[in-house]
Amino acid sequence: MKYLVVGGGGREHAITAALARERETHLAAVMATKNPGIASIADVLLLARETAVERVVGFAVDQKVDLVLIGPEAPLEAGLVDALAGAGIPAFGPTRGAARIETDKAYARGLMARHGIAGCPDYQGFSDAEEAVRYIRDHPGDLAVKPVGLTGGKGVRVMGEQVDREGACAYARELGGPIVVEERLVGEEFTLQAFVDGTHLVPMPLVQDHKRAFEGDRGPNTGGMGSYSMADHGLPFVERADYDAALAIMDAVVQAMAAEGTPFIGVLYGQFMNTAAGPMVIEFNARFGDPEAMNVLTLLSSDLGAIAWRCVDGTLGASAVSFRPEATVCKYLVPEGYPDAPGPSAPIDPGAPRAARLYYANVEECDGRLWTQRSRTLAFVGTGPTLEEAEAVAEAAAAGVTGPVRYRRDIGTRSLLEQRCAHMRSIR
Ligand code: AMP
Ligand code: GLY
Repeated sequence: MKYLVVGGGGREHAITAALARERETHLAAVMATKNPGIASIADVLLLARETAVERVVGFAVDQKVDLVLIGPEAPLEAGLVDALAGAGIPAFGPTRGAARIETDKAYARGLMARHGIAGCPDYQGFSDAEEAVRYIRDHPGDLAVKPVGLTGGKGVRVMGEQVDREGACAYARELGGPIVVEERLVGEEFTLQAFVDGTHLVPMPLVQDHKRAFEGDRGPNTGGMGSYSMADHGLPFVERADYDAALAIMDAVVQAMAAEGTPFIGVLYGQFMNTAAGPMVIEFNARFGDPEAMNVLTLLSSDLGAIAWRCVDGTLGASAVSFRPEATVCKYLVPEGYPDAPGPSAPIDPGAPRAARLYYANVEECDGRLWTQRSRTLAFVGTGPTLEEAEAVAEAAAAGVTGPVRYRRDIGTRSLLEQRCAHMRSIR
């Protein structure tokens, strides 16, 4: 079987590594800059922008690829799945229309409203910044302000967190273009990802990501500094009823999309805030999370390629998907100064090989050394029977890296988990 993986980050390294676990797999990869981890596994590489749709389709045709797996959102928005279909090549990922569940926040909220789907916060879409400002001024309570389109998780300002009411107005003016303003959600965040074949969903273990740059959830939002999952595939601050409600919301979204003629195929990612009243949707993504993909794909014990085929064929069932009952902790190393002012490219030494799994991200290999770039550099995933053991494995590996990079020591620690649980108890 010949697969093409699109994308060059830690998530795509995890996807490629999962595919490579099966025998007789031929792997091609497309990425903008050469990811040393993917390059060491793939049989053939194309260095090109993932959004260069014609080049990617041409490469897939030339390589006689059977199935394409797409990591990032940008090529989905650029219509890569549609163009591949035009060339007769199936893809594990949504069409441009279906990817709007991520790429167009107003569409996502509108779909939920049209179908009466639970978990949708109060929101308003504005095409004009001054209208948004009037709404923010007149509206009681805290609000979140975000652009309608893709922002890599960095485009949100929340009142009571990063800004006050005047700051929210100023941010709306700064954004100018189409804006979503919604009620501020208070609680604990979690990620639920599911494989989807158009109508059936098979969920993956719950993961908690850490968006803020610094320990103790301080500093600016990032693409995600690391994440953890528990051996029972749940999270201690997400009760059974919360989990069931979140999965029911995702199922309702998939059924609504099918009913509207834009069926979703690929990974549906639900970012939830577990509030006093249960899970509310922060956003959906139309792909694996990064870093969350590294947690779940490290545990996946079934064949990712076979799952992707079932999604494309519409024959997905729970029996096709299993994950090892272990905890995972993922820690990303990032350039000093990331995300606002990452330092210049510099060499790093990942240290001696350790028990953790290493996934490469935005790092270049040159003259036998690894050089940082502007975004997240590399990630270590520790696994173990308990969170403590998984964290110790990831921490030891991350601490062994030398060079101008940093990471969050607190991710996956017992004390952070206890704070999350205490916060949840305090609001319920
Ligand atoms: P997004 O770009 O929608 O993924 O948002 C990035 C981060 O901003 C989320 O992970 C939350 O931490 C925060 N956020 C987004 N929307 C809200 C909201 N309505 N209330 C509170 N926090 C939010
Ligand atoms: N970890 C957040 C994302 O992938 O969007």
